[in-house]
Amino acid sequence: MLAKNIFILTGAGVSAESGLSTFRDKGGIWSQYRLEEVASIQGYERNPSFVLDFYNMRRNTHGGIEPNAAHVALAQLEEAWSARGGSVTLCTQNVDNLHERGGSKRVLHMHGEIAKARCHDCGALAPYDGDLSVNLGCAACGRTGGMRPHVVWFGETPLLMDEIYEALSAADLFVSIGTSGNVYPAAGFVAAARAAGMPTMEINLEASENAHLFDMGRYGKASEQVPAWVTEMVALAD
Ligand code: OAD
Repeated sequence: MLAKNIFILTGAGVSAESGLSTFRDKGGIWSQYRLEEVASIQGYERNPSFVLDFYNMRRNTHGGIEPNAAHVALAQLEEAWSARGGSVTLCTQNVDNLHERGGSKRVLHMHGEIAKARCHDCGALAPYDGDLSVNLGCAACGRTGGMRPHVVWFGETPLLMDEIYEALSAADLFVSIGTSGNVYPAAGFVAAARAAGMPTMEINLEASENAHLFDMGRYGKASEQVPAWVTEMVALAD
């Protein structure tokens, strides 16, 4: 097997062809909203309803979308690798559930999941598909006004970092898919992978600003590039 343990980082580009906007492309989410207003704890404290509405709007757009060929191919890679005694760790910055719906079993959502709500007061976490509002009470602690999307905001620590770094250090191939590499700590994974001596590859619509940090690059739509790469990997695996 070429690489026994593969660590894959995904970003908004992998879901773009399913119909979800990316953040920094032309017309992307951060060209329409001020990041510090809708994705920071200070913004939430200043205007919680505005922030909740932003995520309600985004959650609602997630309703009618489907995984694309890239999500499905990554699930096939995971299955092929686990059948051969290897592993695929899928670490995503995306808050959608398209990897799971595409069939992936082990998905680490470092920036949270939009289809879950968390109580800002007691931390209770539960699946929640409806609109959040400041009038909503927490089923666990009973307090009203603290129910927020289970999404990491700027200034907050991303989730599952111990598990993520453990999987990254055990990997022997690092692949970054559909991310601009602007947001840390995810943007630093490629340097950590290089320092650990593993080969690195990016798959993106076009070369990212960090392209020089990768040993290899495959450029074009995720729905084409990812299945092509997975087909090659599986063919070479036996
Ligand atoms: P960005 O919007 O910064 O980058 C998306 C990347 O996907 C760009 O490099 C595009 O070129 C690429 N792309 C677009 N369409 C593609 C396609 N069809 N196939 C392949 N690649 C494509 O999104 P992220 O890097 O995911 O964090 O952003 C990282 C974080 O910044 C997000 O998780 C979010 C945001 O602020 C939080 O909200 C905490």
